[in-house]
Amino acid sequence: MRFVGGKIDALLGDYLKPIETNWQPADFLPDSAQDNFLEEVKLLRESVRELTYDYVAVLVGDTITEEALPTYESWLMDMEGVDQSNPQNWTRWIRSWTAEENRHGDLLNKFLYLSGRVNMRAMEVSTQYLIADGFDIGTGRDPYRNFVYTSFQELATNVSHRRTATLAKQAGCPQLSKICGVIASDEMRHAKAYKAFVKQIFEVDPSEMMLAFEDMMRKKIVMPAHFLRETGVKIGQTFSHFSDAAQRLGVYTTTDYIDILDDLLADWNIASISDLDDAAQRARDYLMALPARLRRIAERTKVPTLEYPFSWIA
Ligand SMILES: [Fe+2]
Ligand SMILES: [Fe+2]
Repeated sequence: MRFVGGKIDALLGDYLKPIETNWQPADFLPDSAQDNFLEEVKLLRESVRELTYDYVAVLVGDTITEEALPTYESWLMDMEGVDQSNPQNWTRWIRSWTAEENRHGDLLNKFLYLSGRVNMRAMEVSTQYLIADGFDIGTGRDPYRNFVYTSFQELATNVSHRRTATLAKQAGCPQLSKICGVIASDEMRHAKAYKAFVKQIFEVDPSEMMLAFEDMMRKKIVMPAHFLRETGVKIGQTFSHFSDAAQRLGVYTTTDYIDILDDLLADWNIASISDLDDAAQRARDYLMALPARLRRIAERTKVPTLEYPFSWIA
């Protein structure tokens, strides 16, 4: 952590944008200080009419996932090797990353509020539950496992926001499409950062990094909102309905999960990393064979058709 952390200040400019010139939620929303605000809100509400039930449900789930940012920041701050009293180095990365991420939930939340399609109170209850329930992603305080997780997760959110952008455009909602698009591009930048951290760790500690990667993939990468719930619904059940809806829409599917794994294997040159001890070589073999194995399983899984009434949808 000291080795990679020492380079963080130099890397920051590659993976984060300056605050003054970065986009803000207000850039994509009707301006409530202007006289035409109500007119713009009316147009916004008309534009979302064609969005399907599953689409709105997925967008709400995505928003809640983004809104649980306090969990993610505090989790990362607690990693071994992070010293919160030093404002530079890892602390600087985590705080600046959080500051960028914070705009995602903010923007989506305001858009949904204006859309008139959502029961905001039910959604807010789910958000509060999710932050209160936290998560258990199987990384512990280990930065190696955490960076595998964040690399994977930023790519997964990139895919899902990119797909909701495309679907919004098809449904005649260019404003929402733009919103999902700018968020997706943030996620890609963040993915590049986390992947770069892992790549550097592979250079200096290949065996331990390989074992951490294997361990995370054996456990399966759970989504950060896996504890998602609604009033009167058991913990995790809402999440599985949300993920079914995402699968039905093609916003995030089992195939995407496998494609992301393929990406990571290629980006980190897993096939050609040398200097591995015996256990790490076995871990590498497991990882290299994993995409094909998951594809065989995926062929047999059906996309769930059951439609579930979410309390979030007005
Ligand atoms: Fe995000
Ligand atoms: Fe992200």
